[in-house]
Amino acid sequence: MQAQITTTKLIKMKQDGEKIVALTAYDFPFAKIVADAGVHVILVGDSLGMVVQGGTSTLPVTMDEMLYHTRIVARGAQGAMVVGDMPFMSYQAGLTQAVENAGRFLKEADAAAVKLEGGADVSDVIAAITAAGIPVQAHIGLTPQSVHQMGGFKVQRDEERLLDDARKVEAAGAFSVVLEGIPGDISKKITDTLNIPTIGIGAGPDCDGQILVLHDMLGLNDRHLPKFVKQYARLADAAREAVADYAKEVADGSFPADEHCY
Ligand code: KIV
Repeated sequence: MQAQITTTKLIKMKQDGEKIVALTAYDFPFAKIVADAGVHVILVGDSLGMVVQGGTSTLPVTMDEMLYHTRIVARGAQGAMVVGDMPFMSYQAGLTQAVENAGRFLKEADAAAVKLEGGADVSDVIAAITAAGIPVQAHIGLTPQSVHQMGGFKVQRDEERLLDDARKVEAAGAFSVVLEGIPGDISKKITDTLNIPTIGIGAGPDCDGQILVLHDMLGLNDRHLPKFVKQYARLADAAREAVADYAKEVADGSFPADEHCY
């Protein structure tokens, strides 16, 4: 088991030029696999609305669903830092709402930090949550909760705005920032500008770390994958084959065999 990953360790990794490895997870068995492989940060992403619940966006995901998944991930995430993703409308309606909901991730679900989407526009929210002693990971660029405002899941290219967002979330107290769907040259400028680590997804190789959605990189679903995803396995194919073998053996009577019987 790796030594417990903390916010200060992540900042030290950036200073030492050591890449940060992050992945999402949504349940106990996968959290254990991911942590055992030495992944530093496990994000319980609201992407579960798409890859676990089968929705077309992250917008319907609720606080109760996020707390449930974060709690069961935390049980398997030995040593990795568990970050709970604040769902749509759990932090947008006011600072009190935001601090209370962020606190629930630590009190009720054993997360070590929360993540929320937005740049300069949510810097007051980041400051309020951080002031309550709760570490915040920011998320700028392509922010899926704003899919309707962005007019789709689109790469974000406004360099001036992205740099301003990055500076403001750092100044507000974020310990790290996710850069999603940003051209590599802009991500590099942001990474070179900030003291806190940048974690990229579709943001090129020069971020301080990388994150992918677990179900995408493991080939666990058939949904359309963005260009930035590399599939490291095809688990859906393996699962389909196993289930088909089982169905065939039940049908032809070869399962259960003698060794499976009392
Ligand atoms: O919800 C999520 O999984 C995320 C990552 C893609 C960064 O926000």
